[in-house]
Amino acid sequence: MTAPTRIRVDGDAPYDVVVGEGLLGELAAMVSGSQRVAVVHPASLRTTAEAVRDDLLAQGHEAHAVEVPDGEKQKDLKVAAYLWDVLGQVGFTRTDALVAVGGGATTDLTGFVAATWLRGVPVVHVPTTLLGMVDAAVGGKTGINTSAGKNLVGSFHPPAGVLCDLTALETLPVHDFVAGLAEVVKVGFTHDPRILELVEADPKAARSSTGPHIRELVERAIAVKAQVVGDDLTEQGAREFLNYGHTLGHAIEKVEDYGWRHGAAVSVGLVFVAELGRLAGRLDDATAARHRSVLESVGLPTSYTGEWAKVHAAMRIDKKTRGNRLRFVVLDALASPRILDDPDPTLLVAAYEEVRKDRGPEVYL
Ligand code: GLY
Repeated sequence: MTAPTRIRVDGDAPYDVVVGEGLLGELAAMVSGSQRVAVVHPASLRTTAEAVRDDLLAQGHEAHAVEVPDGEKQKDLKVAAYLWDVLGQVGFTRTDALVAVGGGATTDLTGFVAATWLRGVPVVHVPTTLLGMVDAAVGGKTGINTSAGKNLVGSFHPPAGVLCDLTALETLPVHDFVAGLAEVVKVGFTHDPRILELVEADPKAARSSTGPHIRELVERAIAVKAQVVGDDLTEQGAREFLNYGHTLGHAIEKVEDYGWRHGAAVSVGLVFVAELGRLAGRLDDATAARHRSVLESVGLPTSYTGEWAKVHAAMRIDKKTRGNRLRFVVLDALASPRILDDPDPTLLVAAYEEVRKDRGPEVYL
């Protein structure tokens, strides 16, 4: 077993993202000042979470495993209220800590509860999905969903640490693993083209959680995110570039009533903004086409046939929208992201027509 890699995230409260195998021993240091620890987990990860709890108990913590629903439905005000009640019942103080064991939904929910309980208690994230490792668990964005949309209620609350145990990926369903690759490919286009080269060299291996480059792909994606959020936690500037592909992606998720995986929707969103950039005269044809080819090579969807009026309406409540103006992250060139503010509606329709073209089976929804 190789030594873990530690990726520092700077800011007012710096922390490490540890990447490796069998990282349970790392947790003690991250919760060392806490008497009580609540390990929040979805039902499907009960065994893993109980092992974490037992380890904490053995080290003298008063540890509790607290179960929440699986999937996106845990990011609900009622579930957050349930967790606040639990923390109240066990007498959680400001120095006690939450540990989130699960995918992005669990780290978003647990982070939100940690941010709001007593106006902020420590949280450690133990992401078990690729999406959680390379995106949701790093950077301190927390949130729950409302009827108006995803993540519209939340706060920035950086974790005390993040443990990315790559062995967790081995039991992740392939659709979920591949969906997470969309976020990895995203930062390949916006910041680190070496990621694209690694995927293109062997797309089949990139789709496998035990592929030869998976650790490098994960570490490169996290390194980009760590750098960006370390400089701009609250998304006043460069962090917005991490939303590349997300304006249409979030809209598809909403129109599809969250029946699509986030990464699958982002994959279509990436093709859309590549076409938007190309049609706006910013991005060259070859780099735009590369979006489609890389994403298709790993089995991600690159087309969507939903009604434009619905998708357009859903985009208008995206967090990047300012007043009535839609804003998109586009590329001027590979690894050169920029904001395209209030594009001409005809460009939007033309870019959308490009993603409506049916290009064969969509495998990983
Ligand atoms: N998922 C984009 C961000 O964390 O800023």
